[in-house]
Amino acid sequence: MCGIVAYAGDERAAEIIYSGLEKLEYRGYDSAGITTLCDGSFYTVKRSGRVLGLSQYLGNMCGSTGIGHTRWATHGEASDINAHPHCCNRFAVVHNGIIENYSAVKVELVARGHTFLSQTDSEVVAHLLDEYYDGNLIAAVNKTCARLTGCWALAILCKDYEGFVAVRRGSPVIMARGADGYFAASDIPAVAACAEEYCVLEEGDIALISRSECKIFSDGTTSVSRTFVPVEKEQTDGLGEDCPHYMLREIRSNARTIRATCEKFPLAAGGGLYERLRRADKIVLVGCGTAYNAALSAKRLLCGAYDGFVEAVIASEARYNPPAVTKNSVVIAVSQSGETADTVRAAGILKEAGAYLVAVTNTGYSVITRIADKVLPVCAGVEICVAATKSYTGQLACFHLMASLPDYSCRRRELLRVADEVEKLACDELNSLRIAQLCVSSRAVFFIGRGGDADVATEASLKLKEVSYIFSDGYPAGELKHGTLALIDEDVLSVVIICDQSLAEKSKNAVEQILSRRGKVAVVTTLKSVYDELESRVSAAWLLPPVPAHLSHFVSAEALQLVAYRTAVLAGRDPDKPRNLAKSVTVE
Ligand code: G6P
Repeated sequence: MCGIVAYAGDERAAEIIYSGLEKLEYRGYDSAGITTLCDGSFYTVKRSGRVLGLSQYLGNMCGSTGIGHTRWATHGEASDINAHPHCCNRFAVVHNGIIENYSAVKVELVARGHTFLSQTDSEVVAHLLDEYYDGNLIAAVNKTCARLTGCWALAILCKDYEGFVAVRRGSPVIMARGADGYFAASDIPAVAACAEEYCVLEEGDIALISRSECKIFSDGTTSVSRTFVPVEKEQTDGLGEDCPHYMLREIRSNARTIRATCEKFPLAAGGGLYERLRRADKIVLVGCGTAYNAALSAKRLLCGAYDGFVEAVIASEARYNPPAVTKNSVVIAVSQSGETADTVRAAGILKEAGAYLVAVTNTGYSVITRIADKVLPVCAGVEICVAATKSYTGQLACFHLMASLPDYSCRRRELLRVADEVEKLACDELNSLRIAQLCVSSRAVFFIGRGGDADVATEASLKLKEVSYIFSDGYPAGELKHGTLALIDEDVLSVVIICDQSLAEKSKNAVEQILSRRGKVAVVTTLKSVYDELESRVSAAWLLPPVPAHLSHFVSAEALQLVAYRTAVLAGRDPDKPRNLAKSVTVE
């Protein structure tokens, strides 16, 4: 949700910032901009569209200090004018977050003679800095922040200072240093190529950074030091002919993620986690999007393992209507990025109410890890595609292990066997393409299943709509007859997931009900008997590896991730960067 990069060093800033922005595009990609500072003058380029649109202008931007931004629009449409940086006299600013009181501040500034160019909330920051600046940069930043409500990560240039200021209030900022200078950014991938060490700015930190100095003020005035740790240079395979998109590459990493999550779990699971869960009066899972869908599966797994009442709640709801918890409750925040504002907020509220907070996350240095009592790592590695795939699989693996405490060795062996099946399945083209062809020619696609298959149906539907823009819905198969049947006709596809023998007869009833109304049906099943019975009667049937029902979500979810991917490609969409979406949603 907007990415910021700032640099002060010995090299040309424009190119360094541009490379950083390319790495942050998963945070928003509707417009981008860079300002460099050279001999007291600003050089700015900002354009609607992808970061790539800036590349042709970099050669004209001198200076070894600068700031850049890739935007996910909140206030004001995606346009050149609304793109960041926003400038006012001596100041240029990039912003990630929302300035909630921007409207009132703007009215006041306009009355004082300021002229605004954009419709953004962010532009007020540049004007306030200009208003408060009397030669003391940090004082102006402090006064500006004191006037604002909402959340922000800022990078600021001032023509009088050959460096930049980075500010963290509610939105993440890391600072990094390398041989050629200092950086600030929304996330580590932006600086991983050039920096050796990084530190995470704490809430309220203001950092004053030039090529030779880095001062951090914890409350705007008190100088503090933060601990720098080495940047882990993650090896990511490049895209190639056999893997033209990150989404496919990441689906193909599902197996590796299960194995890595199993490997790291023992280290993380100690410290009384089992006792907490065993004694919990209540276990509350919170998350958004795919993470919430993983929480639905987790609810089934944990319900079967522990005595306490288990519920899964959507974080944006829990944030305003939090479930009752006590000091004996365990709250599990599920988040790939660990940054999602709704999840962090809901988790914080429940922790404040006394609950023990566990974070299940793929990002070890994220906001959620800083407030959690315990962190359980999902070892998916950096996930670049906006639609979550391997992180969902890793979350499921983590929940299986949590549900098998204290002795999870047997489940671990099962997971490692499933990983082998998942690995083979990821190479499928024929079956996923067949169903994708049906999806792309349908007006709508419904995913249905019973029990654990219903949770996979919910996630499969989200995946398809995110990347293909085809209307879809996913829910328990039994609900079909209570409304959705009214929508079934020959242009609508229903994907029926049947992986639990004990529920197969009832799911087959749903297939009959759809076929009787001329609806198209695709069956995805781990059960040979179901496949043999339905294969000749439906538009497509996919027989998945015969894994036990309690583990089948690994293979059915992966199969439907492939279907979503191939549908997006057939429909001519960019699966890695779906329109209107962003990966880290840091606004509420
Ligand atoms: C955004 C993404 C979704 C993701 C959700 C939760 O909406 O587009 O794909 O599932 O955020 O993200 P998190 O990082 O908290 O798992």
